[in-house]
Amino acid sequence: MFSQLAVDEHTHLRPFEVADAEAAFGLVDANRPHLRRWLPWVDTATSVEDTRAFFKSSQEQGDARTNLYVGIWHRGELAGSISFYWIDTHNRCAAIAYVLAERFQGRGLVTKACRTLVSYGFTEVGLNRLEIRAAAENTRSRAVAERLGFTVEGIARQEQRLQDRYVDMVVYPMLAPEWRAASGRTEGVLGRVETAGGKHG
Ligand SMILES: CC(C)(COP(=O)(O)OP(=O)(O)OC[C@H]1O[C@@H](n2cnc3c(N)ncnc32)[C@H](O)[C@@H]1OP(=O)(O)O)[C@@H](O)C(=O)NCCC(=O)NCCS
Repeated sequence: MFSQLAVDEHTHLRPFEVADAEAAFGLVDANRPHLRRWLPWVDTATSVEDTRAFFKSSQEQGDARTNLYVGIWHRGELAGSISFYWIDTHNRCAAIAYVLAERFQGRGLVTKACRTLVSYGFTEVGLNRLEIRAAAENTRSRAVAERLGFTVEGIARQEQRLQDRYVDMVVYPMLAPEWRAASGRTEGVLGRVETAGGKHG
């Protein structure tokens, strides 16, 4: 796993540590109405201790390569997070989620962070399929997926329960050969994967 990945001159990704619990809880606590709209877990995050315990267990799972929770740090501040919240090492696939504090929206931070982590997942880890699932009405989240070239595979009907309703989720996969067609190396820690004869460099 990386200790830090540069996104741009002012932004980097760093896997969360237990010591980040205060900053991460603070971000959620200060952005509840913004986040609650789309994220069912927000109301269950009630204390720094919860976040600490979450980071501790996700670090252990990260060591086992079953997930990866990463902070998006912009000009020294925690602006948001991005994760492979589920990694299936046998099938070499993972699901991506992202969150930004409301005031950091609109600058391309998540699109750029996602591009960086997706490249890492395909080229360094050796994943074959990455998936973004966005609520059908979550236009900002869908725009991130579409800006990155993820395409719609289908709709998972009423897959997510948000407060008092079920919402449809749009499934956006990206496959390694598709991503590599535009960039990249061909081998990750899970081993060599087939190439699509894409451009290398
Ligand atoms: C989903 C979420 C992370 C998207 O945030 P966002 O700010 O719209 O996404 P980005 O950081 O990629 O920024 C894109 C915006 O920056 C602009 N931008 C500026 N520079 C850019 C660049 N270099 N690259 C891409 N976009 C850029 C884009 O035009 C776009 O502008 P718009 O808001 O006018 O459309 C945010 O809305 C959020 O946290 N929502 C709540 C949680 C959530 O829904 N998570 C997703 C669950 S699946």
